[in-house]
Amino acid sequence: MTDLNSLEVQALKEIQSTCEVDALESLRVQYLGKKGVLTEKLKELGKLPKEQRREAGQKINLIKASVQQALEEKKIKLVESAIAEKLKCEALDITLPGRGQSLGSLHPITHTLARIEEYFRRHGFVVEEGPEIEDEFHNFEALNIPDHHPARAMHDTFYFDDKLLLRTHTSSVQIHVMQEQKPPIRIIAPGRVYRCDSDPTHSPMFHQVEGLLVDEQVSFVDLKGIIIEFLQTFFEDENLKIRFRPSYFPFTEPSAEIDIAMANSNSKNTKWLEVMGCGMVHPAVFEKVGVDTNKYSGYAFGLGVERLAMLRYQVNDLRLFFENDLRFLQQFA
Ligand code: PHE
Repeated sequence: MTDLNSLEVQALKEIQSTCEVDALESLRVQYLGKKGVLTEKLKELGKLPKEQRREAGQKINLIKASVQQALEEKKIKLVESAIAEKLKCEALDITLPGRGQSLGSLHPITHTLARIEEYFRRHGFVVEEGPEIEDEFHNFEALNIPDHHPARAMHDTFYFDDKLLLRTHTSSVQIHVMQEQKPPIRIIAPGRVYRCDSDPTHSPMFHQVEGLLVDEQVSFVDLKGIIIEFLQTFFEDENLKIRFRPSYFPFTEPSAEIDIAMANSNSKNTKWLEVMGCGMVHPAVFEKVGVDTNKYSGYAFGLGVERLAMLRYQVNDLRLFFENDLRFLQQFA
């Protein structure tokens, strides 16, 4: 009996001082396993004198139960403290301020295009697109610029071969639209155009927005009206001075270039800046695309997006728009 008592004390002490789940399992095997100390003790009961067997058997079973319970309690404690330990080293301070994210912003040209489109959409114009790789017919021929016409030389065209080229203006979209749609037509065509040219006010790729309106009884007055209102809206200046200067384009007649007065020039010697080209659609163009010139007339205009953005934001070198220097772009955020 004394043996059994000290065995229990010993077992419980070992269980208490264990600090790993694996070691705990070895202790279980050592005391309660098939060949464990307490199991052996039960087997040895037969060797005892009869009158002691009952009491000793009960005692051993009690010890087994208490060892079993101690093992289970210890196991729970070990698992809990392992979790607590893990939580402690993975602790997150959710009250710390965030690292912050820098938001991107629209490129000034994208933003300018969006403002132009928004204005014309409000006036019932639909946005159309055409291919940047164009053929001679759409870029020149149908726009009344035949082969060997001097206007072709002015365009500094990038050619792929005899017939294919990078469009030099968005006027080519006028042709696509009139080939596919019947009047009334009211479209704008924003997009990239290409010319072999590079200096502070020219880049080999730039953006234009073309406008085309074809309907019955369209006159130059309609054209003047919308252009004046557009430019005053774009520059947010109702007093903006605008001048229509007679000019020449093979695909419009009459034609004009549109100038705006520089903000800081006095009335005596106003400094004018060209911003757009425009005119009434030339009958020769209507004939190429099968629009009845007895019934319909139309106006067209074309503007340079970079030119307008430069004036609005007072940027003096067009190439800045394409270098993507963040110090430049961030100023438009
Ligand atoms: N396509 C002309 C250019 O690029 C602009 C223009 C468009 C002029 C429509 C008149 C009418 O210079």
